[in-house]
Parts: sequence; C-alpha cells; structure tokens
Amino acid sequence: MQCRPLGITGLDVPVVGMGTWRTFDVRGAAAEAGCRAVLDAAFAAGANLFDTSPMYGAAEEVLSRSLGARREQALVADKVWTAADDEADAQIARALAWYGGLVDIYQVHNLVAVDRRLRTLGRLREEGAVRVIGATHYQHDAYPELLALMRARKVEMVQIPLNAADRAAEKEILPAAADLGIGVMVMRPLGAGRLAQKSVSEAQLAPLRDYGVTTWAQALLKWILSDPRVSCVIPATSKPARMTENAAAGEPPWLDEEMRRYVERLAD
Ligand SMILES: NC(=O)c1ccc[n+]([C@@H]2O[C@H](COP(=O)([O-])OP(=O)(O)OC[C@H]3O[C@@H](n4cnc5c(N)ncnc54)[C@H](OP(=O)(O)O)[C@@H]3O)[C@@H](O)[C@H]2O)c1
Repeated sequence: MQCRPLGITGLDVPVVGMGTWRTFDVRGAAAEAGCRAVLDAAFAAGANLFDTSPMYGAAEEVLSRSLGARREQALVADKVWTAADDEADAQIARALAWYGGLVDIYQVHNLVAVDRRLRTLGRLREEGAVRVIGATHYQHDAYPELLALMRARKVEMVQIPLNAADRAAEKEILPAAADLGIGVMVMRPLGAGRLAQKSVSEAQLAPLRDYGVTTWAQALLKWILSDPRVSCVIPATSKPARMTENAAAGEPPWLDEEMRRYVERLAD
C-alpha cells in the first residue's frame, strides 16, 4: 500500500483507508465478527486508516472493539458533531476512552459549531490527545466555508466528496489544499455505492489493466488517487473481499490524464 503525507502535517497515511458509515453501525456478536473480518482484510492490505463519527450510530464503538489490541497499528479519524458544548465534551470523552486516549485525526463533522470545536480540538492537541485537526462536509455549498477555514489555516486537513462523477472539489478545494499544504481525505469515493454498481464490461476495463485495474471499483478509486493533491480515500464496505479489492487500488501506476478522461466517460 502506498502512503502519502497528510498535507504538511507530517502524518503519513495509507492512500486507501476505510469508512464506517452504515457498515459498522451494527449490533450483536455475529455482526461484529463481520466487522472484525473486514478490519482483518484492511490490516492485511496495509489499509489501516479508519474514519468514523458519533453520527454513525454504533460505528465508533464497534470500530474500537473490532480494533482491540490492534489500536496502536491503526490511524483513527473521528469526528465531533453537535452544536451543544456539553454533548461535544461527552462525545470527545467517549472517543478518547474507546481509542486509548488518542484520536489521530479529529474532524469537525459538517462544520457544526466549528469555531468552538476547533478551539477544543486545539487544546486536546496541546495535551497530546489529537495529532491532526480537520473539518468535513458532504455538500458542495459548504465549500466556501471550508475554504475560509483552510485559508485561515485553522484546519490541517479536510474531508470532502470526490469521484469521477462528482468533481466539484477540483474547482477550489484541491488547488487551495495543494497551495496551503492541507491534507485531503476523500469520502464517498464510490458514490455511496451507486457509482460502483454501474455496469462496466470486461472489455471496457481492458485498457485499464496496464494500470493494475481489474474491477470497476478499482478504476474509480484509482481515478481519485491519480490526483496527487488527494491524500487518501476511505471507501466503506461490509465485505472483506471488497476491502482487499479496494486496497489493491492503492498502488501505482497511477492513471495518466488520458486514462482519467476514459474513466470519467465510463462513469458518465
Ligand atoms: N463527513 C461526512 O459528511 C461523510 C459523509 C459520507 C461519508 N463519509 C465517510 O466516507 C466513507 C465512505 O463514504 P460512503 O460510505 O458514503 O460511500 P462509498 O465508500 O462511496 O461507498 C460505500 C458503498 O460501496 C459499496 N462497495 C464498497 N466497495 C465496493 C466494491 N469494491 N465494489 C462494489 N461496491 C463496493 C459498499 O457496499 P458493501 O458493504 O456491500 O460492500 C457500500 O454500500 C463513509 O463510510 C464515512 O466514513 C463522511
């Protein structure tokens, strides 16, 4: 698995990690065993960056239990998501208890109460409980607010959607991130699964084989990672074999411009 620095933070991240929205919001021993199996596949492939949030139901806690003794080999990207200060403090206390007193990347989810949350996260970083501070939003109309935080150097990384069918972040977010040395984590790399379901034939994938691409999902992930301004992608899956498949997209060769245009046409 190739790693890249998360902007100028000095934290090296695997280019393919994993999200936990919906897939880790599970209850019961059998379902949690399934999550552990997905983590096994992620670790085996070197995809040891995991993104979660208090917004994702039981996912944060299930991720912490599934990691178990492997916590130190993982990078945890968590979020704080509430307008209420006491609830924010409670979310943070729970996360630090689940993740051994450290959240590697702590993000303000959907920019909720962002100024107050960034102050708290800054304090936590001084105490050694956080390594990198960021902010996330899934909607394009939030990009101006994200950009303002980036330009004011209030965040060191952002998490935004980007894929061959959703390229809005290319306009201002990616150029600003490159200029300022800000890390970019890509959510919804498979279009929340819809883009991955598009029917693409073996013959259509054939020109991508020289780039190590054997499946449509890999083509989509490699399209994103071929942009050097992107630090990492976090596709979610409930299936170990898909985790292995997705992680395999985290190796060069990257797609050249002609091949990226080709994937965009397939995604259209
Ligand atoms: N901050 C925010 O506002 C925000 C918003 C959305 C997401 N996120 C983060 O970003 C992560 C990723 O986004 P996402 O979960 O919305 O969408 P995604 O990663 O684009 O897509 C996930 C879906 O793709 C399917 N999938 C995964 N690998 C596949 C493969 N190789 N072939 C075919 N289908 C495949 C999964 O189904 P199976 O389980 O059946 O494999 C799942 O339904 C989230 O989990 C979360 O951590 C953050």
